[in-house]
Amino acid sequence: MTASTTTGHTDGERLRDRIAAELARARSRSTLLTEVVDDADLMRQHSPLMSPLVWDLAHVGNQEELWLVRDVGGREPVRCDIDELYDAFKQPRRDRPALPLLPPAEARAYLGTVRDKVHDLLDTVRFTERPLVADGFAFGMIVQHEQQHDETMLATHQLRVGPAVLHAPAPPEPSASAGGEVLVPAGEFTMGTDTDPWALDNERPAHRVDLPAYVIDAAPVTNGQYEAFIADGGYTDPRWWSPAGWAHRVRERLDAPMHWQRDGDGWSYRRFGRWDRVRADEPVVHVCFYEAQAYAAWAGKRLPTEAEWEKAARWDPATGRSRRYPWGDDDPTAAHANLDQRHLRPAPVGAYPAGASPLGVHQLIGDVWEWTSTAFRGHPGFTAFPYREYSEVFFGDDYRVLRGGSFGTDRSACRGTFRNWDYPIRRQIFSGFRCARDAGPDESRR
Ligand SMILES: [Fe+2]
Repeated sequence: MTASTTTGHTDGERLRDRIAAELARARSRSTLLTEVVDDADLMRQHSPLMSPLVWDLAHVGNQEELWLVRDVGGREPVRCDIDELYDAFKQPRRDRPALPLLPPAEARAYLGTVRDKVHDLLDTVRFTERPLVADGFAFGMIVQHEQQHDETMLATHQLRVGPAVLHAPAPPEPSASAGGEVLVPAGEFTMGTDTDPWALDNERPAHRVDLPAYVIDAAPVTNGQYEAFIADGGYTDPRWWSPAGWAHRVRERLDAPMHWQRDGDGWSYRRFGRWDRVRADEPVVHVCFYEAQAYAAWAGKRLPTEAEWEKAARWDPATGRSRRYPWGDDDPTAAHANLDQRHLRPAPVGAYPAGASPLGVHQLIGDVWEWTSTAFRGHPGFTAFPYREYSEVFFGDDYRVLRGGSFGTDRSACRGTFRNWDYPIRRQIFSGFRCARDAGPDESRR
């Protein structure tokens, strides 16, 4: 550790402060999401797709205990009798409400005890070269884990029936025009990272990818654009759908994004317990991969591959290097992107000009997770770390990659390299998309 001569603070102290602040930020969000409903509501399962909120809460504490208290700290277990109950692989979501879960007061007390021990070990831990603790990785992983579950809990709130309990100001209004398409010239770029200290295993290693020229939408597909697809009979025309997508659409009788309902000649949309008219210039959210794919086909386009999404988000044509975010290497602020659950919906297109990429692609980070056409796999040279169950067990054709984070994603769990994945039928997540297409011969020569 190098001591700073100007401030008297060592890098280790600065890292400790940052970890403590990030842990506190995550915990205050978990607390908010679980304090706004009563105990019965916390124990209830609001959808078979989701856990009772109290399961997520205690699971967050259990993972923190396993990785930080026991593994990093080498301390005695706080309680090992509950490890099985909160093991996401042993307990499928649909079965979780029937488990002998810790009641809310006990779950909160457990989280508090674990957190006290983590603060205790944070005071003395040495950030050695051991990969689990270098740059505070395990702490960063646990911060991201809690924030990811907070986003899952937010999705549970969206599925919950009952009066509104969450409140937030509206996102900013558009201050720039962000329609149209952007040409991304052919060539190599660096995908993934070796250097972002809290990047997870599936974001590594950095590697070069060569792409032909392509065209990508400057903004996510909006409700207004999606309504035109519906109005044009998009949901009833099998031409636009893949065979698997069509079979799913028919079986589930899909005819609009989740949470939409006809309202006169337009649509209304239920979010977090309130009905609103669907706003035309907001990115569409709560669509599954198959719906995104069908819309793109109807529009004469396709979904971007994951590599195309990342090149549009990170590649800087002036230097040839890949940035951490579209706007540069600095962490996101409220001016860059709609993240951190500051708002409870996506922002209209054009609301974040300061967050655009050098090529002029807007709102890649925040607002809505964007479906890509790519199945979830390891980057070339992938090594599972620190456990196979974080990503490797999900590799294969079953899952599609989503990129960029949503309004419900925290900035600690969102980067230009961050990868999410889900089944192509899922839409309870905050998922939207943008389209892409191959560049025509005239376009690519420009
Ligand atoms: Fe988890």
